[in-house]
Amino acid sequence: MLDGMSLRFPIRIAVKSELRLVELKQSQELFALVEANRAQLGKYLPWVEPTRSAADVEKFLRGALKQHADNLGFHGCIWHEKRPVGMAGFHPIDWANRNVALGYWIAREAQGKGLVTAAVRALLRVSFRHYELHRVEIQCATGNRKSCAIARRLGFRREGVLRGVQKLGEDYNDTVVYSMLDSEWE
Ligand SMILES: CC(C)(COP(=O)(O)OP(=O)(O)OC[C@H]1O[C@@H](n2cnc3c(N)ncnc32)[C@H](O)[C@@H]1OP(=O)(O)O)[C@@H](O)C(=O)NCCC(=O)NCCS
Repeated sequence: MLDGMSLRFPIRIAVKSELRLVELKQSQELFALVEANRAQLGKYLPWVEPTRSAADVEKFLRGALKQHADNLGFHGCIWHEKRPVGMAGFHPIDWANRNVALGYWIAREAQGKGLVTAAVRALLRVSFRHYELHRVEIQCATGNRKSCAIARRLGFRREGVLRGVQKLGEDYNDTVVYSMLDSEWE
């Protein structure tokens, strides 16, 4: 099964928690979530600084839905106790090489419960079982301890460090590359 449009949402990830495909009508609510968490998210995510209105979020959501419609992977909203608390999803799938990279963030109030680990575990299942991909990658800034911990907790292998690859404000971050191959999953 390779067609993302045949995926069934919501995807249950934990008790009272699920991954739902993003919707355009969420732009205001998601912008409010980004605003409330701007300092912690902006530390590691370059898109946070230029995201200044619900219209900016709506533009992102349109792109995300087109990506899903083009069968290049989806962006999911992490819902916990009936409220959106973060996001987890795919960078556009490289079908020629059957590779993909994942991204995620969560509001401070919902951290420390294992929700993102559970969401990424679900994305691994979709990657290897549904899309039948060969390789899944996660890149984290070297200082992003909590993000690196997610990759390690799920059994990703550490491949190495890309020096100065991510521009954040005036700084260039080094990132750690983690990967998992289909043969290493489950
Ligand atoms: C990176 C980020 C998503 C990590 O969030 P998180 O809440 O630590 O991640 P999880 O939801 O997987 O929770 C893991 C924590 O819950 C705890 N936990 C509780 N129950 C758990 C369970 N059932 N399974 C796994 N972990 C559990 C873990 O021990 C861990 O806590 P610790 O940090 O005190 O060791 C978050 O810090 C964030 O949004 N940062 C800013 C954006 C960002 O950096 N994104 C990633 C870019 S690469």
